[in-house]
Amino acid sequence: MNNEKQYAPLGVFDSGVGGLTVAREIMRQLPQERIIYFGDTARVPYGSKSRETVTRYSRQIVHFLLEKGVKAIVVACNTASAFALEAIQGEIPVPIIGVVKPGAKVAAETTENGIIGVIGTEATISSQLYTRVIHQHNPHAVVIGKACPLFVSLVEEGWLKDPITVAVAERYLESFLASDMDTLIMGCTHYPLLRSTLRGILGDKVHLVNPAYETARSLKELLEEHHILNDGQGAPQEIRHQFYVSDAAEKFKNFASSILPCEIKEARLVHIEE
Ligand code: DGL
Repeated sequence: MNNEKQYAPLGVFDSGVGGLTVAREIMRQLPQERIIYFGDTARVPYGSKSRETVTRYSRQIVHFLLEKGVKAIVVACNTASAFALEAIQGEIPVPIIGVVKPGAKVAAETTENGIIGVIGTEATISSQLYTRVIHQHNPHAVVIGKACPLFVSLVEEGWLKDPITVAVAERYLESFLASDMDTLIMGCTHYPLLRSTLRGILGDKVHLVNPAYETARSLKELLEEHHILNDGQGAPQEIRHQFYVSDAAEKFKNFASSILPCEIKEARLVHIEE
């Protein structure tokens, strides 16, 4: 049976450019899927805002994506996944997935000694969602959370391996070095871009979990379950992926072009509050 819905695009959103690390994984793992990405560049960062505000922003974006006819939504932002996903998932007619649950599940399965670190924004760490999901899979795990808010600015500045970034990372990771942690979740969209800096400080023995990667894997399962995984047999699409932002479209386009495996022709400006 031919299911036309499978050819509809996926909606992916984040507070800004960070969610492009998730979009990139989806493009790699599910190359036949079309993405409509929304980056809330006017209102970033979400990581220092309240649950109510992040939920309100996320709801507006979800409605925008639904109007575009998406078949499923990926909340590519850890903070929005931690604060808004639960409230929104019962309100919409399409499947929705966040980045926290897939990352937490894999960390719980990967750890050998049960000591797991989580780094993320202040909001993500204070929500304790990573801890709760890890405990659903591994009730005895010890979870150590640490907010690392400066990482977002350092990544957006492009200082991925800069000595300043290394010094900041050493300070943030100090408490982990004193523990026996064997698994660390990079629980913020920007952090996978710091992977080699983190690896340099933590050494080879710590497993680094990238929720973006795990989310793309879980997304495939979710689309299969709902019989909407694109089989690649539909009409060829002229414009494959589309990008929308709430501010600074040109800056977004440049950042996106530097990390995505495809050329970004344009990022369109949307007044999301209206
Ligand atoms: N995208 C956010 C996250 O993954 C980080 C940036 C922000 O604070 O908005 O939590």
